[in-house]
Amino acid sequence: MTRNKYYCIFFLFYSILSFSQNIPINKKSLVGNGIAEFIPQGFDKKKTPSLILQSEPVNNTSLPENWRLVPEFTLTADKVSASLVLEDSVSLYGGGEVTGPLLRNDQSIKLWNTDTGAYSVENGKRLYQTHPWVMGVRADGTAFGILFDSTWKAELITNSDKIIYNSEGALFRVYVIDRDSPQAVMKGLAELIGTIKMPARWTLGYHQCRFSYDSEERVIQIADTFRLKKIPCDVIWMDIDYMDGYRVFTFDKKRFPDPKSLNDKLHQKGFKAVYMIDPGVKVDENYHIYQSGSKNDIWVKNPDGTEYHGKVWPGDCTFPDFTTPQTRLWWADLYKDFLHTGIDGVWNDMNEPAINDNELPENLRLGTMPYDTPHRGGDNLPAGSHLLYHNAYGRLMVEASYNGIINANPNKRPFLLTRANLLGGQRYAATWTGDNYASWEHLKLSVPMSLTLGLSGQPFNGPDIGGFLGNTSGDLWANWLGFGAFMPFARGHACAGTNNKEPWAYGEDIERSSRIALERRYRILPYLYTLFYNSHKTGLPVMAPVFFADSKDLKLRAEEQVFLLGKDLLVIPSFAKDPALPSGIWEEFSLVNGDLEDTYQAKIKIRGGSILPVGKIIQNTTENSFDPLTLIVCLDENGKALGELYIDEGDNWNFENGEFSLIEFTAQKKGKKVFVEVGNKKGNMNTDTIIRNIHVQVIMNNKVYNGSGTLKDIIKVKL
Ligand code: GLC
Repeated sequence: MTRNKYYCIFFLFYSILSFSQNIPINKKSLVGNGIAEFIPQGFDKKKTPSLILQSEPVNNTSLPENWRLVPEFTLTADKVSASLVLEDSVSLYGGGEVTGPLLRNDQSIKLWNTDTGAYSVENGKRLYQTHPWVMGVRADGTAFGILFDSTWKAELITNSDKIIYNSEGALFRVYVIDRDSPQAVMKGLAELIGTIKMPARWTLGYHQCRFSYDSEERVIQIADTFRLKKIPCDVIWMDIDYMDGYRVFTFDKKRFPDPKSLNDKLHQKGFKAVYMIDPGVKVDENYHIYQSGSKNDIWVKNPDGTEYHGKVWPGDCTFPDFTTPQTRLWWADLYKDFLHTGIDGVWNDMNEPAINDNELPENLRLGTMPYDTPHRGGDNLPAGSHLLYHNAYGRLMVEASYNGIINANPNKRPFLLTRANLLGGQRYAATWTGDNYASWEHLKLSVPMSLTLGLSGQPFNGPDIGGFLGNTSGDLWANWLGFGAFMPFARGHACAGTNNKEPWAYGEDIERSSRIALERRYRILPYLYTLFYNSHKTGLPVMAPVFFADSKDLKLRAEEQVFLLGKDLLVIPSFAKDPALPSGIWEEFSLVNGDLEDTYQAKIKIRGGSILPVGKIIQNTTENSFDPLTLIVCLDENGKALGELYIDEGDNWNFENGEFSLIEFTAQKKGKKVFVEVGNKKGNMNTDTIIRNIHVQVIMNNKVYNGSGTLKDIIKVKL
């Protein structure tokens, strides 16, 4: 070959590799207050359907001239990208379920839902969920959010000077929210993707899980031990071993012969029961679910039209194609008989979907379906490959599960926990942070991970407290529970083959500390339930980073050991070293006898200017927590404080028709007295018989001043 020919070939390859084309923006408009939509030329909903937005934006007005953040779309040989140039000194957050720091400046993550057990900061860059979302907070405390509305396999790069989203699929829309605070941006996100449903009150209690409590006797023994030892708990979880050979929607005839009577017994003891359901259905001609799915033609197929098979717990499995409406209806229907055994909640797992292909050479392993596996779609969803629908598989599964659960028990609020999900999927399910490890690294990681999920539209989340994989020491357990008891979702879990990880498994001292931690959680339930109500209404996170206390205070921006519960309670885990704390009045206080002296417990502080409604210690949420109701008051520098309490019937929908009470409390110091009384009241619920007595505790300069009365009184507290 001549030298010229070499040059020509080199030039050809170079041009292909470096090919990059700018895509003009076809439409830019305001679709809400401070929310802009950008649609690139060539965008086609049939190629990139939206599974993230709650509904299509309707109001369109023109974009103001001075709008700051505008994406630039480019097309290269192997990807389509959007990038946004940032001004100086922006703190970045979000990205959903990620390991690593809370502050996301100069990070990159792959968006491809993956079963990444024992994730470390390094391999955890790709986890079980997809959240194409970034929030930025400017030096002046104003904030913005960027949502890339796509489920295609992608990468999210959050450089300090530029945010880049590279998709391996087709063109997509971008939404930019620009508002005056991070809280206002979170509300804007909720306007686009919706909020969580109001959870049932019991779901905020403590949950005890293990892979697996593998017989009815063992389950009852665990439940009885909680009651015997007076350690509060609301829920016992059934992991895969309750099933008959891991066949979903079945029960093992020997070990779980009578689930109805087991669930009845649990209910009598004040427990709820949650059972696991995975998407993989065992290939077994004699199994009614496999037969029914085959008859209804709902399985995912290979490109050649044969049934796709992949290995999960039961061996060879088929997988429902959740992109088709008839599959979602079929799946939803399966829950009716299942839940009529008295099951209270459902746990959808392995729904990335995770597939065990370890028998393949390492370079061929995908851990999921091949990229070109077709999905059929239907209604608003086009037919498309796995590359398009993989990140939405768990989200579509939980939509179907949610509908099935609510159809089975229309008067109850569904509880569903999922491992895989997509931004916006909080509308259907709560989540946990997957298979973590019993180590200090994971204990510490659990705080920024939960915070980041909360900043990505998923407030109802938490880690496996104690660590799932590996043995847990008493020390690690008690440290973890000491702050885990203040996280939105509080569940202890343990992998098969690891030590017992119940609160009493580590000896008497740790048992006492565990009781204190859980009693503290149960005392704050009235406040926590109120926070969940607010989150359901507005999209604000339940557990928030401390910079939410003052978004202008730059020293708070990277703090990831300490967190806020709502805006009034600061939680300082026992492991926290030199944390950055918000300025102003914050008073430490005790919730339970012995908590201040117990070094495993997180320190908790109340914000000056606030009133926290807390209940009494109860063993589970079927007991009345408001007998008495305690109001913990911390005055601001003007001697004033404000708080609120939301209550309703706990697990039905009557609150939507006014059966609730949202009570505002005010406090004011006059001379040597503090006067506490009810302010505004909303809702029709009669609280007179529920809240009979009120105790007030004013916390001032580390001292507690007490008073008491009823809802009708102006309660005076002498200082
Ligand atoms: C997965 C889940 C884990 C569960 C196990 C068995 O690893 O993440 O929580 O215990 O499967 O079902």
